[in-house]
Amino acid sequence: MKPTTVSTLRQWKKSGRKFASVTAYDYSFARLFADEGIQVMLVGDSLGMVVQGHDSTLPVTLADIAYHTRAVRRGAPAALLMADLPFMTFATPEQAFASSAELMRAGANMVKIEGGAWLSDTVRQLAERAVPVCGHLGLTPQSVNIFGGYKVQGRDSEAAETLLADALALEAAGAQMLVLECVPVALAQRVTEALAIPVIGIGAGNVTDGQILVMHDAFGITGGHTPKFVKNFLLETGEMRAAVRQYVAEVEAGTYPAEEHSFY
Ligand code: KIV
Repeated sequence: MKPTTVSTLRQWKKSGRKFASVTAYDYSFARLFADEGIQVMLVGDSLGMVVQGHDSTLPVTLADIAYHTRAVRRGAPAALLMADLPFMTFATPEQAFASSAELMRAGANMVKIEGGAWLSDTVRQLAERAVPVCGHLGLTPQSVNIFGGYKVQGRDSEAAETLLADALALEAAGAQMLVLECVPVALAQRVTEALAIPVIGIGAGNVTDGQILVMHDAFGITGGHTPKFVKNFLLETGEMRAAVRQYVAEVEAGTYPAEEHSFY
């Protein structure tokens, strides 16, 4: 199978083709996702919560992400594979280089990094050193202790303008993709239209170029509170492979996320 690359995604954005992506943490699910049409996967630090059982992503280490990246890569050799830089593994550009090198050696095609314009130098220097970077704005879970919980971001006009400026700064610094998490639809639309790079949304409405879900959420394994943007595709289809196909089809058609999954 032909590998999916950042240029593939840019072409999709230009032609208006929406795409579905998902988190993956092991070989078997990565293989199942690839078989059913998912071409973009993330080894997210959400693994701290859904795999390891912590109450935040902060305890996740670089070694944890590298371990899961190796497994996912074996299951999905042609996917565009992103790997998260965990909390405090990119505090300085030098630390970000070393951390990214480890994840790229483990099989990642791109690293994802939480934060805004303050990361511009780091993103620029990573891009110069051949490390593709995906930014992550909005509800960035590594900042849960600053936000005081998992809350929708960018609701007032000042916060919205700051987020848009952050997105433009990351793109200007050389980011090749952006994840936008839990923001109002109108803001997601502005950011998606303002950027040439693909924007992947989670809790950002159906206006972004792509969508991402934590795989456990898509299968209804939410353990308590289910975020508004989540849809249990397994409940509707009754079978895992069919659930993934349904997710892909609904994202491509723009019917997921629907209004009831979005913030206004
Ligand atoms: O860690 C993760 O799974 C993520 C996604 C929710 C985008 O960052």
